[in-house]
Amino acid sequence: MLMKRWALLGTAIALMATAACGKTAGAPIVRFLDRPDTGGGWKEIISEFEAANPDINVELVEGPASTNAREDMYSLSLSAADGTYDIVYMDVIWVPKFAARGWLQSLDHRLPPVEREKFLPGDIRGSTYQGSLYRVPMRSDAGMLYYRTDLVAKPPETFEELAATARRLQKPPELWGVVFQGQQYEGLVCAFLEVLWGFGADVLDADGNVVLDSPEAVRALTWLSGLVGDVAPGGVTTYQEEDARHLFQEGHAVFMRNWPYVWTLAQQVGSPVAGKIGIAPMPHVPGQRGAATLGGWGFGLAKSARHPEAAWRFIAFATQPEQQKILHLRGGAIPARRDLFRDPEILKASPYYSDLYRILLAARPRPVHPKYAQISNAIQVHVSAALVGAESPDEAIKRAAQEVRGILGR
Ligand code: GLC
Repeated sequence: MLMKRWALLGTAIALMATAACGKTAGAPIVRFLDRPDTGGGWKEIISEFEAANPDINVELVEGPASTNAREDMYSLSLSAADGTYDIVYMDVIWVPKFAARGWLQSLDHRLPPVEREKFLPGDIRGSTYQGSLYRVPMRSDAGMLYYRTDLVAKPPETFEELAATARRLQKPPELWGVVFQGQQYEGLVCAFLEVLWGFGADVLDADGNVVLDSPEAVRALTWLSGLVGDVAPGGVTTYQEEDARHLFQEGHAVFMRNWPYVWTLAQQVGSPVAGKIGIAPMPHVPGQRGAATLGGWGFGLAKSARHPEAAWRFIAFATQPEQQKILHLRGGAIPARRDLFRDPEILKASPYYSDLYRILLAARPRPVHPKYAQISNAIQVHVSAALVGAESPDEAIKRAAQEVRGILGR
């Protein structure tokens, strides 16, 4: 039902929202879907590509902001092999599922190992399934803690310190202690995992056994749900990335969990917090280490592509350093190519890059499994229930663990 709704919406958006510049009549069209093009980076990349390749038209479909919604739209289209999307712009968590279902072409012969070396290792690992490469990384991602440097002298290292500082400094509703992604969707899983890992717990162990129902996990969820209505606004349970960013950027929060793209947008001229923000690794409990969830996006080539060579030419072009740089400078996307972390223009725009590089190298993947969407769904439902007070943290963890065991057949 939900998938159908998104598919219809997707078609409507495809008709309305394609980038229309520099098109050549009669040339093949290759299409991909992403969230709205904040900053206009994609439009710039597409028009540069079309100017240099007048025999190909590229269309960007600007879809819903949530990764889950776009995953449904791609899934429906690729499973029907309907040819809508020759190019599959993928979240790192979709790769095992899309590859296992046979929806993607292997890119092994197109991107040789010496080329792969030029990307961040986590992004290449996340693009590989059963030894084959299915995605060329475009942007990397890792969760981090933003703080206001005009209010906080030194970022907190422990969860306890974070909550205590937030409580001391906040003056709700003008200034809240902390905001994060609390809506029931993938972003909540990313934020929850960082807290879970920081408490020393995990979803699966190294052998793939479900170990989520541990006392540490209950403590982690107790801490996270305890923030709601205390140092985080009650409405945080409906926030995605952009809701948290807007509140923080308008100066209404001391701390925020978010992805690195926020830096560029929040530092823009006219932003009330420009020059007043810092980033730090996610906190942890004493004796544990903070951890970032690894995110990131890249291009796959659909098995059902009608124009695979044209699609590949765009993928190869878009993932070059110059284009990754455009996406960064326009909208804050973190390049997936290592060299760009030493690029003078990027370092000038984003001086925090050396800290970020360390956070990215240490970022941890979500469970890597073709059934990840179901695993995530079980976690989303129960973590969200705990955040809104419908289940106790103890119940929520037990039920999530039980469902994940059911999904994995363990
Ligand atoms: C970011 C990440 C992606 C993650 C999503 C969750 O886009 O790059 O990996 O799934 O946020 O909202």
